[in-house]
Amino acid sequence: MTIKACVFDAYGTLFDVAAAAREAASEPGREALAGCWQALAETWRQKQLAYSWLRAINQAHTDFWQVTGDALDYAMAEQKLTNPELRERLMALYFELSAYPEVPEMLAALKNAGYSTAILSNGSPDMLMGAVTSADIGALLDEVISVEDVGVFKPDRRVYDLVGTALDVAPNEVLFVSSNGWDAASAAGYGFQTAWVNRAGLPMDRLPWQPVHELTDLTTIPDLAGQL
Ligand code: LAC
Repeated sequence: MTIKACVFDAYGTLFDVAAAAREAASEPGREALAGCWQALAETWRQKQLAYSWLRAINQAHTDFWQVTGDALDYAMAEQKLTNPELRERLMALYFELSAYPEVPEMLAALKNAGYSTAILSNGSPDMLMGAVTSADIGALLDEVISVEDVGVFKPDRRVYDLVGTALDVAPNEVLFVSSNGWDAASAAGYGFQTAWVNRAGLPMDRLPWQPVHELTDLTTIPDLAGQL
């Protein structure tokens, strides 16, 4: 067994980032959001990532909760949504995002097979704890590692270094799993074994590195880890 640890990106990989806008849109009195929640969710996510990269490049770190709120403000302005109560509701839903349905069983299978399991995420410790608690997967994770330990966002290498320190493993003993093509690619460049979870059937990012394994969801991660 070369793989000792399976390490997961959080937002978009274990937790469904579209769930906050989708759930809010289904609530009574949310007609304005119901007509645009998909576009809002898409811009919210893209700006959240762009702001994280820009802050990393410009050495202007703040935590991911602030970045998530800034990105939501942009996305709401784009859709001409001005209701402060809606902003508060969307952020509250983001704090306790739903996990994808296969997550608990997949993590339990990894634990039963003897792997260490962890999250490595841009998320702040508070927001990661909110999502892990609401998905009830804390007992299935050995570590929840936040970039706040190094004060810079992915794909800075110092973030990926946190895994070896926390789990006492070499990079090639780690199966790193992300739904973000750029994160999976950067992790491959770092030296992790990598799986890209490509639920949306997107093309591969054009970067100097590529994730070796491409999956459509998380169900086959335990099998993949066993084959590496
Ligand atoms: C994370 C973002 C990149 O959880 O999805 O780190």
